[in-house]
Amino acid sequence: MHPSQAPFPATRFRRTRQSAQVRALVQENALTVGDLIWPVFLRDGKDVVEPVASMPGVSRLSVDNVVKAAREAASLGIPAICLFPYTDPAKKTEDCAEAWNPDNLSNSATRAIKDAVPDIAVMTDVALDPYNSLGHDGFVVDGKIPNDETVDALVRQALSQARAGADIIGPSDMMDSRIGAIRTELESEGFKDVMLLSYAAKYASAFYGPFRDAVGASGALVGDKTTYQMNPANSNEALRLVERDLREGADMVMVKPGMPYLDICRRVKDAFGAPTYAYQVSGEYAMIAGAAENGWIDGQKAMLESLMCFKRAGCDGVLTYFAPQVARLLQDN
Ligand code: PBG
Repeated sequence: MHPSQAPFPATRFRRTRQSAQVRALVQENALTVGDLIWPVFLRDGKDVVEPVASMPGVSRLSVDNVVKAAREAASLGIPAICLFPYTDPAKKTEDCAEAWNPDNLSNSATRAIKDAVPDIAVMTDVALDPYNSLGHDGFVVDGKIPNDETVDALVRQALSQARAGADIIGPSDMMDSRIGAIRTELESEGFKDVMLLSYAAKYASAFYGPFRDAVGASGALVGDKTTYQMNPANSNEALRLVERDLREGADMVMVKPGMPYLDICRRVKDAFGAPTYAYQVSGEYAMIAGAAENGWIDGQKAMLESLMCFKRAGCDGVLTYFAPQVARLLQDN
């Protein structure tokens, strides 16, 4: 026991839990709408809302509908929306050229949102998987993912996103040296204010399954991502990666997935004090939303609890598919 703590009965912890008012007074952390980044899935077409089977309540949206969604998110006070394209399989190739097409789905959506909804930040994803006929985040050569050639492609992709107006670029590919390479290119092309939110500690996780369905990458993926994403058994390595990415010019860092990796969030925040985010990934969402749909848990409470826990673990914010739902709840309360 801490020396400042008097023994029972002088100290009774239940005194400060006796009413909602007192519980509010002693509450250590808070979840607010300002903590939310909303990941959304894009697809081509007009007025399309296409449900993702493995993520109840989540749909792929055409650009016109994503603009509406962004407008609603902004009106709820959500600070940022994060775009993930479902690419027409006919546009997926081994050279992944669609990734830096200035008019690809992600860039078109970025421009449309920046034009119509000035008061929401647009975050984009840097990785080749939505455009790669082999489903990997990098090029595939003789069954391997070459690091340095992939980084050159990621730099082109990031630059095309900056040109389209992205505010925050999120490299999710886990290649070595890509933060430094992208930062150098952005500076030399005059994009001095474009932020980099590095997926610094991204684990090779089974919890990404529904996302790969949502972006149409699951059927395509040959092998797994264990030669570039982290081993879930490691924790010191996460700190080394975060340190590396901050030194290379990341403004913010992410831990991904979220809930099974809260110890990593805490270590990262304590070690560096940098803006730290967790990604509550598709599998985490599906577990809560799926169980709730079956009446096995109270979905609203589980959602709020899971998000509060990220704040307690030291995160400054969370990427969550629940963002608009949470924002509405927080507004009503
Ligand atoms: C790929 C990418 C993934 C996610 C975001 N970007 C999947 C993967 O690494 O295979 C996962 C997000 C989620 O599961 O919600 N660059």
